[in-house]
Amino acid sequence: MCGIVGYIGFRRADQVIISALKRLEYRGYDSWGVAVKHGNSLEIIKRVGAIGDVENYSLAEGNVGIGHTRWATHGKPSEINAHPHTDCNNQIAVVHNGIISNFQSLKEELESRGHKFSSETDTEVIAHLIEEEYRGDLKEAVMKAVERLRGSYAIVVMHAETEELVAARYKSPLVIGVGDGEWFIASDVPAVLDYTNRVIYLEDGDVAKLWNDGFTIWNNGKEVERRVETVPWSIEDAEKGGYEHFMLKEIHENPRVVEETLLEYLEDDIKIDSRIFAGISDILFVACGTSFHACLVGKYLIEGLTGIPVRVEYASEFNYSNPPLSRTLVVGITQSGETADTLEAMRKAKKLGMRVLAITNVLGSTATRVADHVIYTRAGPEIGVAATKTFIAQLIVLYLIAAKISSLPPTEIEELLEELRNIPQKIRQILDREDEISSISNTFAGYENMMYVGRGIGYPVALEGALKLKEISYIHAEGYPAGELKHGPFALLGEKTPVVACVVRDKTYESMLGNIKEIKARESPVIAVADEDDEEIEKFVDYVIRTPSTIPLLTPLTYSVALQLFAYHIARIRGCEIDKPRNLAKSVTVE
Ligand code: F6R
Repeated sequence: MCGIVGYIGFRRADQVIISALKRLEYRGYDSWGVAVKHGNSLEIIKRVGAIGDVENYSLAEGNVGIGHTRWATHGKPSEINAHPHTDCNNQIAVVHNGIISNFQSLKEELESRGHKFSSETDTEVIAHLIEEEYRGDLKEAVMKAVERLRGSYAIVVMHAETEELVAARYKSPLVIGVGDGEWFIASDVPAVLDYTNRVIYLEDGDVAKLWNDGFTIWNNGKEVERRVETVPWSIEDAEKGGYEHFMLKEIHENPRVVEETLLEYLEDDIKIDSRIFAGISDILFVACGTSFHACLVGKYLIEGLTGIPVRVEYASEFNYSNPPLSRTLVVGITQSGETADTLEAMRKAKKLGMRVLAITNVLGSTATRVADHVIYTRAGPEIGVAATKTFIAQLIVLYLIAAKISSLPPTEIEELLEELRNIPQKIRQILDREDEISSISNTFAGYENMMYVGRGIGYPVALEGALKLKEISYIHAEGYPAGELKHGPFALLGEKTPVVACVVRDKTYESMLGNIKEIKARESPVIAVADEDDEEIEKFVDYVIRTPSTIPLLTPLTYSVALQLFAYHIARIRGCEIDKPRNLAKSVTVE
């Protein structure tokens, strides 16, 4: 995820900014850049790759500057696409986090008035908009420019001729660091902690101006007061945003990830290129691990909404199969874009003449170069080894694909999309109930075996819940279709083997209740994950993890977040190394 730093004060801005950017390296980035004001001009450097030693870089002397670490979203990682971006005359420089969803139409409008663009980024439109509005007052120009922006942004802007920084925030964080006679602005607290622990968190709609003597904040054109808070964390704590582990932080990022992925692909229409799916006879998903579970959800969605036949194969097994040659679209899902088995499966499909689509979280990754088409998830870098927010982002893309190519009446699809827009808020409600989930985790942290069961769309949710638990807590956990238990796994049931039942209120409901009765008859404790409107369920089970009600088709989103928290708290109670589980790697680049 991108990082922002700005500085105004008495030190050399280049050194402060580069060392502060290094404090944001843990977030992941592929390129970076810095702008410093020197006399009445801006000196800018941009580089691809890691920053390395701060001493290696020296810009012209100056006490005002901005910097950015970029994690590519619009346009490949390159010096041209790295921030800061400037206007036509190199007088205004901008760094930006977030996504400007209407950048294409703004760009066309600006081009028609003679603006020349040098990058592929959405950010560059901001510099040109500010240039058009600038009449000698940077803050006024920024206020006018941001009115035109749709999407999310945290921006910091500087002008070659003025000693000031202007920042604006909407749905993407920004914090002012308050020093003695110096001021910082950053996307994240760790960037400023070497210099000050006094910070002000900006709110949505805030515009701030920082100059040598202080700062002022406006919202809706009116001056506002914001509280100065003292950060009690060390830098290491702050990197995790105050959370004990990256995994927990990433689970808490789920609502924002859903919002960002929807912002990217859902406006009045679904912004996915329908040519990817033109003329296909069927779809074959290939993936590993959590991404494989996303594919299984995708099968339910696409078959249910479109009638197009869908197969799902483990990428590592596809390499031994002989798929029939047809007009199959092969979809490789891989958050890292580097999983060797998935890449091999995609390459094999290409050799067989099949069209290949990659769904990945990493721009420029190998999967994007192997595939004919790419759809990006917008989860930002994931540091915890266990996939959480990237899984939820994969599901969002699959809902949008299914809706895009659906053969259902438009009103039904509109209902689905409407409810999809409510999901971030529903996930926030689950996160608000974390204590309840943690107390159920407490009851089950001492067991050594667990089963997870589901039916229909609840089945891949059960598989993913079991995978999360086993990889971070080392409890042996199996996911099963609930109807399969009696064909073998029943032998394992008993009071030492709790069962997590993913109960969806659709056509599978009655059968699930029947399965739960069978499980209870064998004395396994049962924890249900269920919709909060389900009043029946508590009569059948020992514990219920409740999630805000939604339509059955969307329960993988709510139930999976609840099960991520359940697994996380069990692992925490057991004292496991949650972010780096034994024997596992974030990117599995060997077959
Ligand atoms: C589980 C997990 C792994 C990955 C798998 C595929 O939490 O993270 O199972 O899902 O290694 O990785 P990607 O999606 O990068 O291909």
